Amino acid sequence: MHHFIAESYFDVVTNVNDTWARVKALPNYREEFGVALFRRMFEVAPDAWTVFPWGRGNKNDEDMFKNPEFLKFARRFTEMLDMAIDMLGPDMELVEEQLTDIGIMHSRVGVVPRHYPLMGACLIDTLADKLGPETFTRRHRDAWGATFQFMSTTMLQGAFDDMKRKLEGGGKKNGGSMRHSVL
Ligand code: HEM
Repeated sequence: MHHFIAESYFDVVTNVNDTWARVKALPNYREEFGVALFRRMFEVAPDAWTVFPWGRGNKNDEDMFKNPEFLKFARRFTEMLDMAIDMLGPDMELVEEQLTDIGIMHSRVGVVPRHYPLMGACLIDTLADKLGPETFTRRHRDAWGATFQFMSTTMLQGAFDDMKRKLEGGGKKNGGSMRHSVL
């Protein structure tokens, strides 16, 4: 029984790694993937623009997608996914700690819980789009769904704990230490 469960978790990680390796083989994948993902994201969540420093005061127009700050962020975001995927498996404690901190930073810049499932759906649609249905099958979709669920739950846990500490008047965790706290 335990063996069966361990095997299915292994499958999830394998499926995510396999599909991600294929994305990484695409030309200029960092920028292309990040841009495609955020194009979708801003379509389904137009308000999400406002949480990005380079998005404030702008409309969801083509100029924005050429903004060097946006392109830089799109590349960084893909790199971050890359890192998180690399970390899946061997040392979950480390990845959980980092996601918790990233979650706190996100709540401070104005990312709201609703944005997470939207981002998850956009991520999966972007993968499906880039890889095609032959490569990105139902089980890959499920594996990514479970993985994104884990990442966003861990990030939100960090954000909620941070809020709780504040409400209780406790000390701040990582106050001001994230590079991009803008609010
Ligand atoms: C599992 C989901 C997510 C992960 C793992 C993640 C990860 C990250 C990381 C690592 C950074 C820091 C990049 C850097 O400074 O080098 C970042 C920045 C940021 N993320 Fe996310 N993110 C996620 C979801 C979201 C969502 C849903 C939104 C909102 C629409 C969002 C908005 C932002 C913003 C506004 C920044 C700061 C941008 C800047 O200062 O240039 N993220 N994210």
